[in-house]
Amino acid sequence: MASDEQKAVLVTGCSSGIGLRLAVLLAQDAKKRYHVTATMRDLRKKDKLEQAAGDALNKTLSIQRLDVCSDESVAECLNNMKDRRVDVLVNNAGVGQIGPIESLSMQDMQKVFETNFFGAVRMIKAVLPDMKKRKSGHIVTMSSVMGLQGIVFNDVYAASKFAMEGFCESLAVQLLKFNVNVSLIEPGPVNTEFEMKLMEEVGKSQFPGADAETVRYFKEVYLPASHEIFTTLGQSPDTVAKATMQVIGMRLPRLRYQTNALYTPLVALKYADESGSLSVRTFYNLLFNFGPLFHLSMNLIKCITCNCFRRGAVSPS
Ligand SMILES: NC(=O)c1ccc[n+]([C@@H]2O[C@H](COP(=O)([O-])OP(=O)(O)OC[C@H]3O[C@@H](n4cnc5c(N)ncnc54)[C@H](OP(=O)(O)O)[C@@H]3O)[C@@H](O)[C@H]2O)c1
Ligand SMILES: *[C@@H]1O[C@H](CO)[C@@H](O)[C@H](O)[C@H]1NC(C)=O
Ligand SMILES: *[C@@H]1O[C@H](CO)[C@@H](O)[C@H](O)[C@H]1NC(C)=O
Repeated sequence: MASDEQKAVLVTGCSSGIGLRLAVLLAQDAKKRYHVTATMRDLRKKDKLEQAAGDALNKTLSIQRLDVCSDESVAECLNNMKDRRVDVLVNNAGVGQIGPIESLSMQDMQKVFETNFFGAVRMIKAVLPDMKKRKSGHIVTMSSVMGLQGIVFNDVYAASKFAMEGFCESLAVQLLKFNVNVSLIEPGPVNTEFEMKLMEEVGKSQFPGADAETVRYFKEVYLPASHEIFTTLGQSPDTVAKATMQVIGMRLPRLRYQTNALYTPLVALKYADESGSLSVRTFYNLLFNFGPLFHLSMNLIKCITCNCFRRGAVSPS
């Protein structure tokens, strides 16, 4: 139970990756500023979190079941919390999806929105009335650079994160009146099970419905390039969790935080040319025209990332 000086933090999707690391970091805070309700949809997966939490388990960290796609599950979890109090909500739960859209069913695409968009909206809707009443609170959502800049073959995933960006940007204005802050964390590629889960699924799929040329581009051009991006620019979940913890500790948190300074130039393309041509052409050339040179361009990006771009990213000291 959270003591009165402690902030009650609820994190979704804590069975692995960024959510697990963030829950543990907050619970192990040296100043004991937080009581963390670390949630996951399947409690059979709680061993890894319990081990990582160590001494904090059942003290500053409690584990609860929560499926962001279920009204009942969200209500049950909140009812188990002291006074239903959530000072900081972290919407971290999310699923990925890659591949040519011709080979994805409408139902599979809707599932991505059910989790990444409506899941987070369901959580916000559930905690909002109390936050408004108390005139305090912080809603933190794990977005992505793909919430700002679409990436080929990630069409629906990017759209779900764009949706979250639009939702939070709209909500932030109203909530400012109630002293409730809204923040979006925008990591670049992160080396978690997320990518591995996707690659596994992709390995099994035959991509029915997609033409041979598209499938060939996807497998022989996109997948190796994507792997290259993760190994060259990828951050650890711990780095993203630390950046998020820093944002949670801020007195006046901003709306947007990118965590990966190496990736900021790619997003900056979009703002450098509002017509969209610059980013579409650059990504096209990176992927289709430079082929074997892609490796080089990734390293080039590392070199040209000057300080003026890096300033934009939150970096844990
Ligand atoms: N990895 C990246 O490159 C990257 C980059 C930018 C942003 N992000 C975002 O970061 C967040 C965390 O991802 P991650 O990289 O840490 O991947 P991860 O290790 O796969 O973690 C995703 C978490 O979300 C949970 N989840 C999925 N559906 C859920 C549901 N209906 N209810 C509750 N929890 C659910 C998963 O639980 P199960 O174990 O039960 O599936 C898992 O704990 C996501 O929002 C993702 O979009 C990731
Ligand atoms: C923590 O609390 C849970 C549920 O109350 C309990 O099942 C578990 O044994 C406790 N673990 C430790 C290490 O105290
Ligand atoms: C949130 O925003 C309000 C109004 O801008 C501010 O006064 C408050 O202290 C902020 N901080 C947190 C952590 O909620």
